[in-house]
Amino acid sequence: MKEQLQALQEKAIAQIQGAANLQELQDIRVTYLGKKGEVTSLLKGLGKLSPEERPAMGALVNTVRVALEAALDSVQQQMEAAVLAAKLEQETIDITLPGRPVRKGHLHPLTLINEEIEQFFVSMGYAVEEGPEIESDYFNFECLNLAADHPARDMQDSFYITDSVLLRTHTSPVQARTLQRSEKNAPIRMIAPGKVYRWDYDATHSPVFHQVEGLVIDKNITFSDLKGTLELFLKKMFGEDTAVRFRTSFFPFTEPSAEVDISCCMCHGEGCRVCSHTGWLEILGCGMVHPNVLKLNGYDPNEVQGFAFGMGVERIAMLKYGINDLRLFYENDKRFLTQF
Ligand code: DAH
Repeated sequence: MKEQLQALQEKAIAQIQGAANLQELQDIRVTYLGKKGEVTSLLKGLGKLSPEERPAMGALVNTVRVALEAALDSVQQQMEAAVLAAKLEQETIDITLPGRPVRKGHLHPLTLINEEIEQFFVSMGYAVEEGPEIESDYFNFECLNLAADHPARDMQDSFYITDSVLLRTHTSPVQARTLQRSEKNAPIRMIAPGKVYRWDYDATHSPVFHQVEGLVIDKNITFSDLKGTLELFLKKMFGEDTAVRFRTSFFPFTEPSAEVDISCCMCHGEGCRVCSHTGWLEILGCGMVHPNVLKLNGYDPNEVQGFAFGMGVERIAMLKYGINDLRLFYENDKRFLTQF
């Protein structure tokens, strides 16, 4: 009996140690220690023994039971630890990996140029004014010294809504509005950015585009003030080494009038396709406010003088960034927009 128990224990221990997984281990546990297991049956059979044999045999079977339980528990613990280790290994998160980048939107190139222009003039003490895009013929032309029969009205093909209301063809009407809003002869220093509309569409013209108007009125304002201001502005915008020249021109609302050129920012004055081999790029229109404009809008040209200027934002952006087709600004192609 004693040898039999010894053999049983050895067989069971060998099976326990050879178990491939937790399920097998559980089966072994049932085979020996379950309700109908071999060791359990032996314990149950003790009752058939004589009272003298019983204690010694009982102790012996119990020793086997304890030994098997210990072996089972120890192997089970090892297996469970191995399973947990494997799971942890598999679920490891490398917190040092870089995150997925979040794509940020950014400002449109025209907004960037507009902000740059505004920042410059605001830093010089200019106010930022606004006017309506649906404008009266009166503010768009008449107050700016373009009477109803003035030939200069032909210079701009306009979108008329009624005979006397149109989409403004330039930001210059904001000059007239600001003058009329101000106390008579009060000094003015303002810019007016905004959308303007003309019947025109090709690689360098869009029916809707953007301008920035400027107006300065005070006592003793001269053409030198105009030149100094615009030279400073253009060098800031296109670089300190940019050359600036003023060419005589004509606008009904200024006298004298000038067009301003900068040295070509593509070829630096050498001559290229962008500047039509002249080395110069036309960048804005300007002049001394015409006495009639002051009079028509309630100011006294004998008391105050001023200068005005107007520029196209698309044109500045195209030249500054080297863009050859203006339509790119409005197509919202991300390959274009993300370059700024
Ligand atoms: N309004 C003109 C245009 O759209 C630009 C312009 C020229 C504005 C001279 C001015 C100026 O204020 O003085 O072509």
